[in-house]
Amino acid sequence: MKKLLFGFTLILGFSGGALGADSLVSEDSETCIECHASLHPGIVKDWLKSAHAKVSPAQALNKPKLERRISVEKVPEHLANKAIGCAECHTMNEGTHQDSFEHNDYQVHTVVTPNDCAVCHEAEARQYQKNLMSKARTILLENPVYMDLMTQINGTHRLEDKEIIVIPPNADTNADACLYCHGTKVEMEGLKTVDSDMGEMEVPILSGWPNQGVGRLNPDGTTGSCSACHVRHQYSIEMARRPYTCSECHKGPDVPAYAVYQVSKHGNIHSTHNKEWDFRAVPWKVGKDFTAPTCGACHVSLLVGEDGEIVAERTHQMNNRSTWRLFGVPYAHPHPKSSDTSTIRNKAGLPLPTELTGEPVSQFLIDAKEQQQRRDAMKTICLSCHGNGWVDGHFERLENTIATTNEMTLTSTKILITAWDKGVAKGLEHHDSIFNDVIEKKWTEQWLFYANSARLASAMAGADYGVFANGRWYLSKNIQEMLDYIHMRE
Ligand code: HEC
Ligand code: HEC
Ligand code: HEC
Ligand code: HEC
Ligand code: HEC
Ligand code: HEC
Ligand code: HEC
Ligand code: HEC
Repeated sequence: MKKLLFGFTLILGFSGGALGADSLVSEDSETCIECHASLHPGIVKDWLKSAHAKVSPAQALNKPKLERRISVEKVPEHLANKAIGCAECHTMNEGTHQDSFEHNDYQVHTVVTPNDCAVCHEAEARQYQKNLMSKARTILLENPVYMDLMTQINGTHRLEDKEIIVIPPNADTNADACLYCHGTKVEMEGLKTVDSDMGEMEVPILSGWPNQGVGRLNPDGTTGSCSACHVRHQYSIEMARRPYTCSECHKGPDVPAYAVYQVSKHGNIHSTHNKEWDFRAVPWKVGKDFTAPTCGACHVSLLVGEDGEIVAERTHQMNNRSTWRLFGVPYAHPHPKSSDTSTIRNKAGLPLPTELTGEPVSQFLIDAKEQQQRRDAMKTICLSCHGNGWVDGHFERLENTIATTNEMTLTSTKILITAWDKGVAKGLEHHDSIFNDVIEKKWTEQWLFYANSARLASAMAGADYGVFANGRWYLSKNIQEMLDYIHMRE
């Protein structure tokens, strides 16, 4: 007990009265902190630095609308005047969590989900569901073409009789690879007893854990993880606005948005001047708080101008300002209407948003009017720092890049079909994987690496990634190599 009290006092000293008689912290959360302060000092001190420890929902609702950081109009009475502490989050929506466990007289769940956050942040949770991100797990696992790709990449390759046999990947491999970003399924498998300074304690055994993938399937049936960008337990808005937070998932050769940003003028200005910027201000004032956009500024943030007029509304539907799905499988196309793309079928019956010829499967995709609205929303942001000529010129080039890279993909698709016709590789008609032959892998690289790289470079102004660093040089070289491969095998 001595150790417990010591931990508690330390916290009191540190927080300068966050806990105590007239404390903002609920009695329930104080109970948690009594043990967890010494058990997990990292967690408790992180939380003490958060807005959740310092501002009650009632105080938050008192702020002028544009400065508010909670999006509901009303918070349940028992939560309104208290800090959002351990107990508030980890016992929220009791009865809906498959992973809840009996813990010191509380029904606690470890996995705090978007639905729990929604009690105070309803708009963010609702909008987030319209992201492809929120369905990133379903989009992969319920699409046979994507599953084929996943198996060919993650499977263990074995040599038998001079042939390669692909052993399908196990759950740990997938959790360590694609599902690290796309999201695992977290399930309660049972309880285990752990030994601690406080004696023996039962804690849950969770499968698919740890994970913070954007499309994670949670034990309460919800999808997504706010922790992907809002790291527990500080929940700092600064971290969400910083570009490197997105780099965890948006950096590789297939998805080089961060790499592009880093070399762009915007990235360079961020690197040079970010120390003078105010990453905590809400709303975020263009020019005063920051002088070049980060990922958040262009895709998410509430931005205002000099006199507080709104430049962009905050959106957690992060495709709200995106006209195109640049990451095309295999062609770029207008954004899908619904975030659950697993129901899309093209004329050939394949679960893809375009035909193999590149023509978009329009009934599943946003129309020209919606595209225009989204482009205008993005352009309004640019126009707070640039003139019309600069911005229009930029987007005309992007349209051109989409058209030309799609054509380069089409050329490679035609070569691939020739290879299948000539029997140089086995494809759809042979009921074989379309990702396992050498020429099929080269076709995959054409759109997955080179075309995507060129398009992201064009969208976000990082020219190197559009040319020699996985861009147009490889788009053209690869086509010649694919054709050569057929000639060699004929
Ligand atoms: C009597 C001490 C004590 C109290 C009170 C207490 N905890 Fe714990 N808690 C522990 C111990 C010990 C563990 C096990 C740590 C480990 O797994 O190493 C634990 C584990 C946890 C875990 C992690 C479970 C997992 O998935 O591994 C969560 C979440 C948690 N506690 C939340 C809470 C909350 C919320 C409260 C208050 C409602 C609370 N605890 C009150 C001692 C306590
Ligand atoms: C892909 C990254 C990402 C994910 C995932 C994400 N957010 Fe955010 N969030 C941001 C960014 C960027 C901002 C900064 C917005 C701004 O500057 O206005 C933000 C801001 C916020 C804010 C502060 C907004 C305010 O009113 O000042 C809240 C609250 C929030 N997010 C809640 C959530 C919740 C709840 C979830 C899960 C459903 C979530 N976020 C998931 C990126 C993300
Ligand atoms: C705003 C909601 C919120 C509050 C407040 C909160 N937590 Fe959490 N906590 C979470 C989320 C979310 C996760 C899981 C992260 C994830 O989704 O991957 C988590 C994870 C944990 C874990 C497991 C971490 C691990 O790495 O194994 C423990 C233990 C825990 N919290 C304890 C606490 C304690 C103690 C407090 C109070 C000081 C607290 N939490 C306050 C949301 C919260
Ligand atoms: C019971 C209400 C409640 C719940 C549940 C809740 N929050 Fe909050 N959140 C708040 C309040 C209150 C603030 C501070 C508002 C202010 O400073 O004006 C806040 C602030 C934030 C901020 C902005 C912090 C900053 O630095 O500006 C983020 C991000 C955030 N919450 C994310 C989350 C996430 C993610 C969850 C779920 C894991 C969650 N919140 C759960 C009430 C809540
Ligand atoms: C490091 C994080 C990360 C890993 C690991 C990862 N992905 Fe992704 N994936 C992403 C991101 C980010 C996007 C979206 C990129 C964009 O829009 O520019 C994406 C998009 C996709 C898409 C497009 C889905 C659609 O239709 O919208 C497919 C298919 C895909 N990934 C397959 C895979 C497969 C298969 C694996 C494992 C072999 C994998 N990914 C591993 C981050 C990742
Ligand atoms: C934990 C991994 C992860 C993090 C962190 C992450 N993303 Fe993503 N993001 C993904 C994946 C995976 C997809 C692809 C979903 C799909 O197509 O299946 C994606 C897709 C997107 C898209 C495409 C539009 C859509 O509907 O989802 C945008 C835009 C995006 N992310 C922006 C961001 C920004 C901005 C940040 C940082 C503030 C960020 N992401 C952080 C994994 C992540
Ligand atoms: C100057 C504003 C700006 C900044 C900064 C910016 N982006 Fe973008 N981003 C765009 C534009 C414009 C597009 C193309 C939109 C369209 O479809 O018309 C785009 C496209 C994307 C896409 C593809 C969306 C899709 O559905 O295919 C992803 C993913 C993305 N950005 C992520 C990021 C990440 C991560 C960062 C930070 C590392 C970032 N962006 C920084 C403006 C920006
Ligand atoms: C907060 C201010 C701000 C916003 C918002 C902004 N930019 Fe910029 N951008 C700059 C500054 C400053 C430069 C550096 C200008 C220079 O070097 O002359 C720059 C540079 C660029 C460049 C680099 C040109 C080159 O040749 O290096 C492009 C392209 C660009 N911006 C496009 C855009 C687009 C498109 C948007 C909107 C999607 C946008 N910017 C939004 C401030 C901004």
